[in-house]
Amino acid sequence: MVTDNVDLDIDGIAGDGEQAIAGASSTDALSQVETQYLGKRSALTRAHRTLGGLDPEARKEAGRQLNEVRGRLEAQLEARRGELADAERAEALRADRLDLTEVIPAQVLSPADRGHLHLVTRARADLEDVFVGMGFTIAEGPEAETDWYNFEALNIPPAHPARGMYDTMYLDIGEPETVLLRTHTSPVQIHLMEEAVRDDSLPIHAVMPGKCFRLDTPDARHLPVFNQIEGLVIDRGITFGDLAGTIQVFTEAYFGEGMQSRLRPAYFPFTEPSAELEITCTLCMGEGCRTCSHTGWIELGGCGMVDAAVFAAVGIDADEWSGFAFGFGIDRLAQMRQEVPDMRSFLENDIRFLSQF
Ligand code: DAH
Repeated sequence: MVTDNVDLDIDGIAGDGEQAIAGASSTDALSQVETQYLGKRSALTRAHRTLGGLDPEARKEAGRQLNEVRGRLEAQLEARRGELADAERAEALRADRLDLTEVIPAQVLSPADRGHLHLVTRARADLEDVFVGMGFTIAEGPEAETDWYNFEALNIPPAHPARGMYDTMYLDIGEPETVLLRTHTSPVQIHLMEEAVRDDSLPIHAVMPGKCFRLDTPDARHLPVFNQIEGLVIDRGITFGDLAGTIQVFTEAYFGEGMQSRLRPAYFPFTEPSAELEITCTLCMGEGCRTCSHTGWIELGGCGMVDAAVFAAVGIDADEWSGFAFGFGIDRLAQMRQEVPDMRSFLENDIRFLSQF
């Protein structure tokens, strides 16, 4: 009976133990396997205790076999423990690892954190693209101008009432001439026309973007420092129809088709006839709101046929050449395209506003 037990146990014990050791999936599970198969209450230990009931020859043989099984299981257990411990250490390291290749792009360079061009800067670039696409060149002029360029050559003589709406900062820089911060981009027209006369390089098809300055109180539609894009076309046989067509193409290219615009008769000393370009206020779609002072319309700027007095000031023969000009507010255009209720938001540098665009 006892001998049967011992005989039975040896192969079974060895097989079960080996299987359990190989199947342990962690060092903790392996410790349990060790207790179960090699501990005091294990079948192996119990089998040892039964040896005393065998005759000396059989006891010796069974004892040798049991020791051999114990030794083998212990060796396998140690090997498996080493394997599992290595795997567990590797896993712990992997879990603990700071993956810089993932973290840096995700946190430091995410689109939300990356800066972008200001809305007005982008509007200027978009407008330049539209006009370059229509065959215009781009020109720039100085922000500090003389009285001649800002006023006189544009048919605004000293004490002319039109000077009232162009009040600005006058610079005391010891020049004999009056120097001021330009109130519009129209003086760049004069620079271009003088240059073309000097170089005998008419015609002109140019747009002139840039900063302008006025002593205006900031409100929903006005800033004391703002941007305009001036346009000038001087060629043979230019008519008001060319002006109207150009403006139509431009408003559709910038705002998309279906934008309602109108040219309203107006007065500017440097154009005759003159008009104001207005579009439906995009914030209320013409219903009337605070931004458009409840008129439903937003003025984008002025335009008209270049006045004979301007041609005379720069020495262009008005019998041979005619032309049109326009000057639109870039900030106003950006405001209308992006539906910004108050233009002052452009300068407040509130990241919650800026990051929307
Ligand atoms: N310079 C004008 C202003 O700032 C706008 C303007 C009107 C420009 C008519 C033009 C023009 O070129 O033809 O109020």
